Amino acid sequence: MEKKKLITLPRILILFPVIAIGIQFIPVDLSNPKTSPENDFITLKKLDTKTATLLRNACYDCHSDQVRFPWYSHVAPVSWLLSGHVEEARNNFNFSQWGTYPEHEQIGISSSCYDEIADDEMPLKSYTLMHPDAQLTDAQKEILKDLFYQE
Ligand code: HEC
Repeated sequence: MEKKKLITLPRILILFPVIAIGIQFIPVDLSNPKTSPENDFITLKKLDTKTATLLRNACYDCHSDQVRFPWYSHVAPVSWLLSGHVEEARNNFNFSQWGTYPEHEQIGISSSCYDEIADDEMPLKSYTLMHPDAQLTDAQKEILKDLFYQE
């Protein structure tokens, strides 16, 4: 007797949407915790609008409590990738909690920010692919490097 194949094209065609919908029910934490605005880097440094916007576009969507979550960020598996990045980035440092860091830590973070920008390591490539406006021009890199430069 001929064995029946378990994996057949019609089964795959039925399973795919079932899985794609099913994974949407796995809970993901995509949220911005409430933090005091007076601890925010942009507020503390009294940045002008141009520099503030630049920093928001390039870094705040991961390293802050003011992450913008577009509609597709709520769709799995994008949501998994995004929440993972944001959590890891906030664990490194969080611009919204800048004022709570002791001065030596602020200096250390600033100099790593300088290095990451100078070496084109940040913003993450996967982010600039989705957000071309976060792809820094040489002039924008200079503005941010000046901001993070430590004597
Ligand atoms: C898409 C999310 C995302 C964006 C946008 C982003 N980062 Fe990060 N950043 C991360 C993640 C995730 C890590 C931790 C993993 C790593 O080092 O790659 C990190 C790590 C860092 C670190 C620590 C690096 C180390 O190895 O110690 C610095 C400094 C940093 N980012 C600065 C920045 C600056 C400055 C910007 C804006 C120009 C920025 N990041 C934009 C996600 C992001």
